[in-house]
Amino acid sequence: MTVPDREATTSKVAVVTGGAAGIGRAVARRLAADGTAVMIGDVDAAAATGVADDIVAAGGRAGALAADVSVAADVEALVAAAVERFGRLDIMVNNAGVAVSGSVTGITEDDWDRVLAVNLKSVWLGMRFAVPPLRAAGGGAIVNMSSVQALLGFPGWAAYAATKGAIISLTRQASVEYAADGIRVNCVAPGTIMTPMNERIFRTAPDREALIDSWNSMHPLGRFGQPEEVAAAVAYLASADASFITGVCLRVDGGLAIQGPTGEVQ
Ligand SMILES: NC(=O)c1ccc[n+]([C@@H]2O[C@H](COP(=O)([O-])OP(=O)(O)OC[C@H]3O[C@@H](n4cnc5c(N)ncnc54)[C@H](O)[C@@H]3O)[C@@H](O)[C@H]2O)c1
Repeated sequence: MTVPDREATTSKVAVVTGGAAGIGRAVARRLAADGTAVMIGDVDAAAATGVADDIVAAGGRAGALAADVSVAADVEALVAAAVERFGRLDIMVNNAGVAVSGSVTGITEDDWDRVLAVNLKSVWLGMRFAVPPLRAAGGGAIVNMSSVQALLGFPGWAAYAATKGAIISLTRQASVEYAADGIRVNCVAPGTIMTPMNERIFRTAPDREALIDSWNSMHPLGRFGQPEEVAAAVAYLASADASFITGVCLRVDGGLAIQGPTGEVQ
């Protein structure tokens, strides 16, 4: 197998789920800025169309489709729309997810099932429908969105953590199943990123500023991450620069998951 030409990172075609807001929107914008045509799938069709329109207005190529990633027919239609509109598929970014809190004993069965469907079943569906066109393109890249919550216990997030841990295992599994097809499968584990997902959590906190301060200080780098910093990692893993990387989980977390006891540097 030869090392792919770096020029081959342009004029590619990607699907980004959950691309209407937050990390997904930053990923869609970043891939488009790098020369990739992007098909955005999101339950918020109006916002997804807005992101696609902005990309086109900036000279890029993009489209949008209403899609619920927990519904097989929607994910199948999303991948098909990318292939129909742009002629092929090279990159699948399974990003959409929801944050629903609840401890092991506290979460309701409905919430458990919803989080599993939107965060985990979606990743399986995305890979299931992306593999055939990726194979047809002679190979490609899948990037799945995990979280540091796969690696650390945060009390009160049982289902969410379970899905994010399973995404790492599923990523490794798929990476060995499709390596022979030239399909690389990796995932990203962000720390706390300033997106609408966290804005919603802050809005309901009794002391918003105190919560933001404590979350900032959890990260050795002393701050939240920005969606664009996660998008840069996704773009890297999807690019030919990562041509010998498959099955990894890349933390983009300001050191959060390796934080030991804090204190003065001696
Ligand atoms: N923000 C963080 O701190 C953080 C940290 C680690 C991992 N993540 C993960 O990154 C991903 C994106 O998170 P975010 O913070 O940008 O979230 P967000 O809530 O800000 O944006 C999520 C997007 O996904 C869409 N979406 C939700 N459910 C969907 C469904 N069923 N089908 C299609 N689209 C759907 C929403 O409409 C929205 O556009 C998620 O998988 C999340 O778990 C986020």
